[in-house]
Order: sequence, then C-alpha cells, then structure tokens
Amino acid sequence: MTRRPLVAGNWKMHGLRASLAEIEAMGVDYDAALRGRAELVVCPPATLVALARDIAVRAGLGLGAQDCHAEASGAHTGDISAEMLRDAGAAYVIVGHSERRADHGETNADVEAKAAAALRAGLAPIICVGETRAEREAGEALAVVAAQIEGSLPSDAPAQIVVAYEPVWAIGTGLTPTPQDVADMHAFARARIEARLGGGKGAHIRILYGGSVKPANARELLSVPNVDGALVGGASLGARDFMGVAAAY
Ligand code: G3P
Repeated sequence: MTRRPLVAGNWKMHGLRASLAEIEAMGVDYDAALRGRAELVVCPPATLVALARDIAVRAGLGLGAQDCHAEASGAHTGDISAEMLRDAGAAYVIVGHSERRADHGETNADVEAKAAAALRAGLAPIICVGETRAEREAGEALAVVAAQIEGSLPSDAPAQIVVAYEPVWAIGTGLTPTPQDVADMHAFARARIEARLGGGKGAHIRILYGGSVKPANARELLSVPNVDGALVGGASLGARDFMGVAAAY
C-alpha cells in the first residue's frame, strides 16, 4: 500500500507577518525530487492563513489551519469555521490537538463534529490522538488511543483524513517513544481506524507521528512501519529545521 508521506508543521500560537518569510524559504529546498517523495504542509495561526496562501503556492507547500468550529457560520464570537479557512486558502485543518483538548475541554464528540465540518467544507482534517504520561504509566495508552479513534473519527470519513498520533508527554519535551513503541502504536491505530471506518480505508489513511520530531531524530522516527509522516511543532517554525525534518524522505 503506497501512502504519500506528509510532513505538516503546526506553528501553534507563534508567528507574525514577518514569519511568512520562513514559508518562502522552505520552498527553496522543496525541490521537485523532494516533492515527488513527500507532501509538505504548513499550519500557521489563523491570522496568517490568507496571507500565506500565495506564498505557499509559490513554495509548493500545502496550507492548513489549527482548529475550526463545528458549524459553518453563526453566533460564535471569536470562532472560525472550516468554510472560512477553506475560503482563506487552507486545504487542511488540525482538529483535536491535545492542547485544545486540555485548554478548551474538547471532547472526542467535539473533535468528531469538527472533523465532519472540515470534510463538509472540503478540508482534510488532521485528527490528533495520544495518551498523557499518566495514562501511559497506568498501562492505558492503547485503550485511550482506541477510544479517541472510535470517538473522534466520523464513521463515514473518507480515506483523505489524516490521523496524527501525538503522545502528550512527548510534545515540546524533547522526549520521544522508542521506535518499537511507535511501531506498536501505529499498527494498533491502523487496525482501530479500519475497525471504525471499514471498507479497507484503514490501509489508505496516513498516520503521522508527532512529539519532539527534529532533524536529528526524523530519519529514525519516520522510517518506522506505519508512520506516514510527521506533525511537527517547534521544529516547523523555521525553514532550516522543518526542511531538515523533511529531508528524512
Ligand atoms: O502538533 C505538533 C506538536 O504537538 C508537536 O510539538 O514541538 O514537540 O514538535 P513539538
């Protein structure tokens, strides 16, 4: 089964207009050969999505956002709908990131509704799952991820969705699971995705690994079976590191 690798950068709440130069710089190293091997997407804060559109197109990069509301429009002060993101130039949107689950109390049902909204608007959702340190230490990592997949993926989702496994304890900490742990979790996640969606879709859906991915460890992590790319935080803010991660392909 061929799945085109995807390296997505999640800028989180970082970036002013001056940061758009980094996207331009990413394009310099994103040559035709690398484009043939991997898809690159950058997800800046919502304020930069429309401003980044033309730059990303010139650089050959895809564009994504970091969250969307579950409804297309309405009285939801401060929120942004998937339709608005699509209109601004996004093709992807991250939903259910652990920081949103923790900071905003987003439940699996919320995440599923957001993913469904993204699909209705023509965006590919990058649906995040992953256990906390306490859950891993309690031996609950597989059960937590299984419940998140079951609860956060719309049951009729097409194979265009992306799932990102991000162990919470690995985010921004410099810690990573062992390649064997990543392999076990990704194989497990693929089986659970197939159980949720059926129709052989599980074999087509890209499962990204996220959590302290850097140029120095990218090759090891991205060569693990069933790892179809990375969701990169800190190392996606600058062109040098982001392209250093992508160079694993
Ligand atoms: O969504 C990506 C993220 O949570 C990982 O962050 O900084 O550990 O690469 P970081």
